Amino acid sequence: MRAKNLLSFGLQAVRTCLGRLNRPYKLTFSVTDKCNLRCRSCNIWKQKIGDELSIDEIDLFFSKNPGIYWLDLTGGEVMLRQDFPEITRSAVRNLPHLFQFHFPTNGTLPDRTERSTQIALDLGIPKVVVSVSIDGPPRLHDELRDRHGTWESAVETYGRIKALPGAEVYFGMTLGAENLDLVSETIDSIAAKIPGFGPADLHLNIAHDTFYYGNPGVSPLAPHEVEAVLRSFMGMRGFPSNPVLLLEWLYQRKVPQYLETRKSPIRCQALSASLFLTATGDVFPCTSYEEKLGNLRDVDFDLGVVWDQPTSIRLFEEIKRGQCPGCWTPCEAYQSIMASLPRPGTWLTRTSHRLSKRSPSEPRA
Ligand SMILES: C[S@@+](CC[C@H](N)C(=O)[O-])C[C@H]1O[C@@H](n2cnc3c(N)ncnc32)[C@H](O)[C@@H]1O
Ligand code: SF4
Ligand code: SF4
Repeated sequence: MRAKNLLSFGLQAVRTCLGRLNRPYKLTFSVTDKCNLRCRSCNIWKQKIGDELSIDEIDLFFSKNPGIYWLDLTGGEVMLRQDFPEITRSAVRNLPHLFQFHFPTNGTLPDRTERSTQIALDLGIPKVVVSVSIDGPPRLHDELRDRHGTWESAVETYGRIKALPGAEVYFGMTLGAENLDLVSETIDSIAAKIPGFGPADLHLNIAHDTFYYGNPGVSPLAPHEVEAVLRSFMGMRGFPSNPVLLLEWLYQRKVPQYLETRKSPIRCQALSASLFLTATGDVFPCTSYEEKLGNLRDVDFDLGVVWDQPTSIRLFEEIKRGQCPGCWTPCEAYQSIMASLPRPGTWLTRTSHRLSKRSPSEPRA
């Protein structure tokens, strides 16, 4: 079953290189804007809480849009949604192809997170992934998250999920000016509490200023400094030994290029492979492009109406040409990387195309 799901998930990722998909296979859905922390890099906690989609509305939405393979439930703090287990059940009931179920958490609610993860596992979702946010060693993390004790509870949450058979958990560290040179120290501080913890269990991201985070004030990172940090991190990790580590390696290698150009280093797959949905039902291409395409409540929860409208198709074409704000976050980059991986079929097609165009006298490169 898992192998069949994996195969059909992989086919979706590959199909994106052939043209725009009929429906996105990945949905990033911010289920709530509520938050119990006040982080320095993110202003979601300052947002006015709107009329968030109810569980009945989410259920209707999933039932009308069953083509999602990869569901990323984010927030705000997702664990503040008391009906999170219901959302998970609805996803499993209505999304027959669901392969990957991921949610990030600030780790302040270990009991609830453990229960929610166990529910997702019991429901038989093939891949259940939880990322616990960490911003640095204990003192800095608590300072950036503006509350004492958050580092300890994040580590406790990680440990509890790690102990659940079948669950995948990692720490997600967003690099900004304050913690850029503290990656090793962060790993050491966690390893002192969790024996065996190592660089492969930490995923790195870079701070962005986008409408989703609501923070136009994030200080820009110097590309060469980030490159040095990432090179040393990749050195600690060694050769990527599984597909996830390979994806991350490819992501990290392109970070300096993004910081230089502020454009996605490879062709972005937003509005073909993926979509971003807010807690109140607004539909956007991604978490970085503030171009609202519609609201689910206005289309009776049929995503197809929004997806197939001329504005969405025009925007997709623009994004393909790089005419968008540009970003390089794992949320959006991974599906683009997957679509760009060389495959024997595409390599052969491109090579034969190139050879057929080359004149007989043209020298080989
Ligand atoms: C917005 S949070 C939502 C989930 C949860 N509240 C948490 O903190 O993990 C999702 C992820 O974005 C990260 N993040 C916060 N500010 C960011 C920024 N300015 N740019 C990129 N990622 C950021 C967080 O650390 C977290 O890993
Ligand atoms: S990063 Fe997460 S915990 Fe921090 S303010 Fe944003 S949503 Fe809340
Ligand atoms: S590259 Fe553009 S369209 Fe793609 S995710 Fe980033 S901002 Fe959105």
